[in-house]
Amino acid sequence: MSDKKLWSGRFSEPTDAFVEAFTASVEFDQRLYRYDIQGSIAHATMLAKSGILTLDERDAITTGLEQIRDQIESGNFEWSVELEDVHMNVESHLTKAIGDAGKKLHTGRSRNDQVATDIRLYMRDEIEIIRTEILRLQQALLDTAEREADTIMPGFTHLQTAQPVTFGHHLMAWFEMLDRDRERLADCNKRVNIMPLGSAALAGTTYPIDRHYTAELLGFDRPSENSLDSVSDRDFAIEFSAAAALIMMHLSRMSEELIIWSSAQFNFVDLSDSFCTGSSIMPQKKNPDVPELVRGKTGRIFGHLIGLLTLMKGQPLAYNKDNQEDKEPLFDTVDNLKGSLKVFADMIPAITCKHQSMREATMKGFATATDLADYLVRKGTPFRDAHEVVGKAVALGVTKGCDLSDLSLNELQAFSDQITDDVYEVLTLEGSVAARDHIGGTAPAQVRAAIERARQRLAAE
Ligand code: ARG
Repeated sequence: MSDKKLWSGRFSEPTDAFVEAFTASVEFDQRLYRYDIQGSIAHATMLAKSGILTLDERDAITTGLEQIRDQIESGNFEWSVELEDVHMNVESHLTKAIGDAGKKLHTGRSRNDQVATDIRLYMRDEIEIIRTEILRLQQALLDTAEREADTIMPGFTHLQTAQPVTFGHHLMAWFEMLDRDRERLADCNKRVNIMPLGSAALAGTTYPIDRHYTAELLGFDRPSENSLDSVSDRDFAIEFSAAAALIMMHLSRMSEELIIWSSAQFNFVDLSDSFCTGSSIMPQKKNPDVPELVRGKTGRIFGHLIGLLTLMKGQPLAYNKDNQEDKEPLFDTVDNLKGSLKVFADMIPAITCKHQSMREATMKGFATATDLADYLVRKGTPFRDAHEVVGKAVALGVTKGCDLSDLSLNELQAFSDQITDDVYEVLTLEGSVAARDHIGGTAPAQVRAAIERARQRLAAE
């Protein structure tokens, strides 16, 4: 027996079988069932309070919907493509279960405001989960940064050795990126948490509904101001998708660094075996699959953002079926973003730093050249002249194949008579990082202070 379509009154011919499957969304939008039921219970409660339903009808609807939720969760609910989407599947089952009261649930609403409400409820929950997952990754970074606050590594610009930095400082840079990401999501939620329900199909409804009450029941900040706008626009989903793209962009940059650092050429870190895989042909290989996959997934998340923007751009007001296409990219974004954050939060604390190797790499690239220039400036040499002097010293180091700190005092003094034997203090890596001792600088003391401030900031939230 086929399920009767809830909108079939004006139709005399059945839907083409292919069209039925082509237009159905139940296969993917069934994941919204909890929010659909939550929205319907609130709607029925409001209808009863406003005298549009009786209290008995409200109770029958509520109990019926709760049973349907249980059936879905225990796998005893049969989804039907003929019933097109999650909304009509649930409503049709409700009517089968409780009779006429079920037919009254859709009074004063439409699937257009219903689906917009469901997505917002779904996104509100997912944003919270994602923010918590970012926080977990941030905590992992704080702990690892604290452990590595004194670890010296080369800092790069143009991927060329620039100046010594501490690994803790580098990890705290990642922390800051994620802090903005988390804040962006909280901000996005302000525009997500607004209720379209009651906008009905597009123009509102003739029933004396109380949208403030429904909004309160559902924990929305307020009902939406304009019915045409709120059944139509998916800008809140696009905004979320943009925030997700930024998070993935950050994770991708981190991935790239982890991949480079774990190569034999850099040899700065060792990723735990549990986050790597081997090669079926080359026995020596340990591949950084997890960061590579996260870097790869970034592409599809960017793609979803462009997909959603394009989905929206040509739509006249108000609701159009185009919008059914918002769900799969959104769900895929949420799933992959959560997965990427989770795997990163688990992987970071398990990174081993190769301290000696990082140190040797820092020694190789004349990383303390700026320190020598600053030293000369402190002794009275104008900065541009100091730059020139140090350039010559570096050239000598290149010829001799040694670091600046390996040049003798005589060799250094040949470039400037202002150099004395205290110069070696600034040429050490520890001296170099310790000297960058101001807020935002790489000195271990500053890194520790930054970690402390970050911990306090998180605790105060
Ligand atoms: N499945 C639809 C969607 O996801 C629900 C709304 C359908 N509304 C309509 N008038 N056809 O957008």
